[in-house]
Amino acid sequence: MQRKNIALITGANKGIGFETARQLGRENTTILLGSRDQAKGEEAAARLRAEGFDVHPIMLDVSDSVSIQKAAAEVKEKFGRLDILVNNAGIMVDDRKKKISEQTLETWRKTFATNLFGVIETTNAFLPLLRQSEAGRIVNLSSILGSIEYHATAGSPIYESKQTPAYNVSKSALNAYTVQLAYELRDTKIKVNAAHPGWVKTEMGGEGAMMEIEDGAKTSVSLATVADNGPSGAFLHQGESLPW
Ligand SMILES: NC(=O)c1ccc[n+]([C@@H]2O[C@H](COP(=O)([O-])OP(=O)(O)OC[C@H]3O[C@@H](n4cnc5c(N)ncnc54)[C@H](OP(=O)(O)O)[C@@H]3O)[C@@H](O)[C@H]2O)c1
Repeated sequence: MQRKNIALITGANKGIGFETARQLGRENTTILLGSRDQAKGEEAAARLRAEGFDVHPIMLDVSDSVSIQKAAAEVKEKFGRLDILVNNAGIMVDDRKKKISEQTLETWRKTFATNLFGVIETTNAFLPLLRQSEAGRIVNLSSILGSIEYHATAGSPIYESKQTPAYNVSKSALNAYTVQLAYELRDTKIKVNAAHPGWVKTEMGGEGAMMEIEDGAKTSVSLATVADNGPSGAFLHQGESLPW
């Protein structure tokens, strides 16, 4: 019988993270539902449990070192290993009315604290538990807005999308980190990939977004469950590579 996977999804109390938890739950996976707000996490976990899934809320603020260490210690004590880490939590806090050169340094620092340093610290904390897995998977929620090649190419799908520079650059950096970590893990069973979910109707994506949340979670789920001969160090959207 196949062993039941254990998956931690950060920022899973709503949006793409919540739907990723639901879809992984359907794949006979124990869900550790990360939320920086305890009440929101418990409420979200209860909703998925009512749908019949095995879900445990975990308090986790990825911009807070103490919170990360506590969460890792809790997972180690209760489960002893982790098979899937979905670094889904992310923020977009640029002031769209300002030019790139006018965004405050505070905006840049805040964005990087969650979207890059939060991912690095969370990954480092959970890596020992992922090494206990038969086949660990790390999924970093990136964005097409992190594609440097597209940003540098006039006429590309996102050439004009420069209203959120701190967010965009944080995702470029996350892509670069993904490549670096994949190199370190190249001779292990752990795969690490960057996912572009699509432009998805969430609080961040807004109502004008093209994709329903159900489809927006599909890239995360497919990379979380990617086969042993699948990619590592890739940047993908629904199975297709995106330019770095
Ligand atoms: N929606 C899109 O079109 C789109 C496109 C490309 C990439 N993405 C990426 O996909 C991921 C999910 O986005 P989404 O659209 O689902 O966004 P969302 O609806 O705004 O949800 C973001 C989630 O991240 C959590 N979060 C934020 N900061 C956190 C922190 N410090 N620690 C823990 N959790 C934190 C939020 O918690 P609270 O509820 O407490 O705020 C929420 O659960 C993000 O990384 C985003 O950059 C989204």
